[in-house]
Amino acid sequence: MIHFKQIIAEKIKENIEEVEIESIINLIEVPKDTQNGDYSFPCFSLAKVFKKSPQIIAEELKEKIELGKEIIKIDVVNGYLNFYINKSILAKEVTEKIYHEKENYGNSDIGKGKNVVIDYSAPNIAKPFHIGHLRSTVIGGSLYKVYKTLGYNVIGVNHVGDYGTQFGKLIEGYKRWGNEYDIDNNPIEELTKIYIRINDLCKEDESVLNECRNNFKKLEDKDPYCVELWKKFRKVSLQEFQKVYDMLGIEFDSWDGEAFYTDKMDEVIKKLEKTGKLVESEGAKIIDLEEKNMAPCIIEKTNGSTTYATRDLAAILYRARTYDFDKDIYVVSYEQILHFKQVFETAKLLGLDEKYTKGLIHVPFGMVQLQTGKMSTRQGNMIKLEDLLNEAINKVKSIIEQKNPNLEEKEEVAKKVGIGAVIYNDLYNSRIKDEIFNWDIMLNFNGETGPYLQYIYVRTNSVLEKANYIPDINNIDINIIKDEASEILKILYNFNEILNSVVDKNEPSILARYLMNLAQQYSSFYNEYKILDDNTQIRNARLAITYMVGIVLKKGANLLGMNMPNKM
Ligand code: ARG
Repeated sequence: MIHFKQIIAEKIKENIEEVEIESIINLIEVPKDTQNGDYSFPCFSLAKVFKKSPQIIAEELKEKIELGKEIIKIDVVNGYLNFYINKSILAKEVTEKIYHEKENYGNSDIGKGKNVVIDYSAPNIAKPFHIGHLRSTVIGGSLYKVYKTLGYNVIGVNHVGDYGTQFGKLIEGYKRWGNEYDIDNNPIEELTKIYIRINDLCKEDESVLNECRNNFKKLEDKDPYCVELWKKFRKVSLQEFQKVYDMLGIEFDSWDGEAFYTDKMDEVIKKLEKTGKLVESEGAKIIDLEEKNMAPCIIEKTNGSTTYATRDLAAILYRARTYDFDKDIYVVSYEQILHFKQVFETAKLLGLDEKYTKGLIHVPFGMVQLQTGKMSTRQGNMIKLEDLLNEAINKVKSIIEQKNPNLEEKEEVAKKVGIGAVIYNDLYNSRIKDEIFNWDIMLNFNGETGPYLQYIYVRTNSVLEKANYIPDINNIDINIIKDEASEILKILYNFNEILNSVVDKNEPSILARYLMNLAQQYSSFYNEYKILDDNTQIRNARLAITYMVGIVLKKGANLLGMNMPNKM
């Protein structure tokens, strides 16, 4: 498809040799307000290069750049060059492309040959999969799909928390009171109760805490009793998690959790020792990061146990060798920013090729807040994600009962809409913001919500159904409506570029917002113009818009992890 940005960049480049074409492309923006053209090039960063004001640079460039078939007008406003493109070319190209590619529209092979590891979800064994894990699962799940669609070779890893001192605690609790709890029938809830109880006891009694620490050490040393219990906890937990993954349509290529690295940490320690930077401090082995203004990275604790960080270092070595990654992305809460800074800094001491240490990326996100504030397993006031998803489904069911009681396949639709609402709510704001969990907001069919997107998608379907045909590409002259649909056509045109920014910034909200804009534009279009016009040419063109919007809404929502109902 014609690449307007590239064409504009080339025209600019012809007149400024000093700047690389890539930098020019990166500078070109799509103005929020269409009053400022279709593309805009800010001249501020050139002011230094040319020792002239941005405004003058822009004016001079405008004089030099020749208009052509694709670029029909240039304006200079406050140091910006605003470009106006030929809408007819855009309309024709985008229509042909979507008609041709259908649900593959937006795909590319830009990522061909590049390996991307995405580490997401990673709940902790024997603890409930609660709403705090939702974000990692949903954000990571969406990134996984978008990278794939752009041709990357993606490896989704669930680095489950199946190791650590909490298992020492659980084993201790189980030893003491295991027979009081019905672990086989209700594993996670019962294990959580044990965990809370032993944790309370540890606070009162230091000697119990020491017992727990010893259990963990024994587990690392492969004591049969401890290992057997650990296996049991892991198995029942993963079975529970799978229910949630099935509901959300989430998949992983690897379940190598923390415990997988038990026998791979020695190498890390040896490598670090060789650098001479692994030092003793109060009986522990640490990497001092004071030079980098960070607290030290603890590699081995006083009692000889390894840490979460050591396992992450072993995982980096393993992933570099096994997956030869270009990017190794960690979708983990912002609470762990320091952890990843420490680990990434320490990873530079492992003797890995720079390719790998440069590919380490922490993608942090904000917390989920309910009215009651932040949730933590230790206090026990967490909400299970499975319950929450079921609640969403039930709420949607009762809305359907009110609004559309005769709907077919209510159950299926309620599932898609309820879960879609939760997913969209999670992805709508930029990920670093804290998320407020409010049913009324996320289930509002008229708000900026998942159900609204689905509702507009369903409308595109029902319009096409009413028309009873999808116009053939040869019978469409899209340009007879290019003005009334110009915004929609431009949005449709930008789809692939939006997907590229999602992976550049690891930010699915860019796609979520884009789809909302598309849905809203279509809704205005639908309200303003009669789609099934008597004039065949106009009707065909408006139906083609409807058809294309439907394709992109569905494809985009699927990439967020949502399923679209055909009716609702
Ligand atoms: N299990 C951890 C937690 O719940 C998240 C693990 C993230 N991944 C990683 N490689 N550290 O906090």
